[in-house]
Amino acid sequence: MLKSRVVVSGDYRGALCYIAAMGILNGKNIVLGLSGGIACYKAAELCRALVKAGANVQVVMTEAASAFITPVTLQALSGQAVYMSQWDARQDNNMAHINLTRSADAILVAPASADFMAKLLHGRADDLLSLACLARPIERVPLLLAPAMNREMWAHPATQRNVAQLRADGCTVLGVGQGDQACGEVGDGRMLEADELLHTLEAFFAPKVLLGRRVLVNAGPTYEAIDPVRGITNRSSGKMGFAIARAAADAGAMVTLVAGPVALPTPHGVQRIDVVSAEQMHAAVMAQAALADVFVAAAAVADWRVDQAAGQKIKKEVGAAPPALRFLENPDILAEVAASERARSGHLFCVGFAAESENLLAHAQAKRARKNVPLLVGNIGPDTFGQDDNALLLVDEHGHRELARASKADLARELIHDLAHRLASKTP
Ligand code: C5P
Repeated sequence: MLKSRVVVSGDYRGALCYIAAMGILNGKNIVLGLSGGIACYKAAELCRALVKAGANVQVVMTEAASAFITPVTLQALSGQAVYMSQWDARQDNNMAHINLTRSADAILVAPASADFMAKLLHGRADDLLSLACLARPIERVPLLLAPAMNREMWAHPATQRNVAQLRADGCTVLGVGQGDQACGEVGDGRMLEADELLHTLEAFFAPKVLLGRRVLVNAGPTYEAIDPVRGITNRSSGKMGFAIARAAADAGAMVTLVAGPVALPTPHGVQRIDVVSAEQMHAAVMAQAALADVFVAAAAVADWRVDQAAGQKIKKEVGAAPPALRFLENPDILAEVAASERARSGHLFCVGFAAESENLLAHAQAKRARKNVPLLVGNIGPDTFGQDDNALLLVDEHGHRELARASKADLARELIHDLAHRLASKTP
């Protein structure tokens, strides 16, 4: 768990009054329900991931689920006795459906079979899981369903009708995956993977501090061609920028992510524009910046490009001198956005990044002034490239604040909270 630490200095606005909650699922009480389906095997992994994320997981299984996976597995993974029956005598008052749901922060049924959803729809309650869903305090305990079934069952009008009605009743019915099914058919109906469900739950609980805001992020390296098979790039993985895009989307923002060449999946709900060179990134960002409220320049944009990349592969001739490359300076995307009318009039908040190898504070302060941005985020390049964790230094006109080493997901969430606070405090 990341501990936010105010290090120095001056009058850092908001540092003391706002420390974002980290590890969104930490301490959450999740009732994980399993109904019958082959996707029960994914629920084991999900259970483990939830526990790892700090959640307190109480598993409730239907009898059909126990035909696919044993309660022993789920008990071992959750660290708690699994409940299956409404007649479970372990509860003093014999009211497991009440006791298990009163302290729950959410019920997630994964997998939710077609039959289980049909049962929920009618408010039937002849097993502990459906009884618990019905008995939960509906205003306080959200119910999320992760459907899993054969593609014909999923596409059937009865199932689709049930899904629509369950949504109208206030359930969050998650989407389904597409692909090979256990039955040998191919199509829609697979349960989402454990990591997708974990992310969905995190997004569900994320405070919507950027609701309605339009956030533009650029991320990753650029690639400047020398010839059709060679080029110049850098070691940026794009992970920090992608984590920021995801955290912004989870916080309710409409997010556009302009991505250099990286091998990362698009965060859920984020509009992605893939580019290769700095000039392409410049064009995409300038077009999008006209609509944005926030621009986070996390990309490692190449400072120079090769003047007139060769049309064909440059051949190595025996004894010949190496080719002399001439470079042109690339546009400074951040500086240009920061100098735009939209930014100068206060309608677009710009955040720069600095990847340094030493003297982080001094370099970050100098870069903030040079780029003329209100917030500059510094990090040590060799300590972050390709890693899943990082440490950040936030520098503004009042001082600086360190975000100690943590996962890029946690740091991104904290940065988004910091940004939301800055935006809120300048909105009349
Ligand atoms: O000047 P330097 O590359 O160190 O500055 C880093 C910051 O400037 C980052 O936010 C990066 O995205 C941005 N930048 C840019 N266009 C460039 C070079 C850097 O937007 N050509």
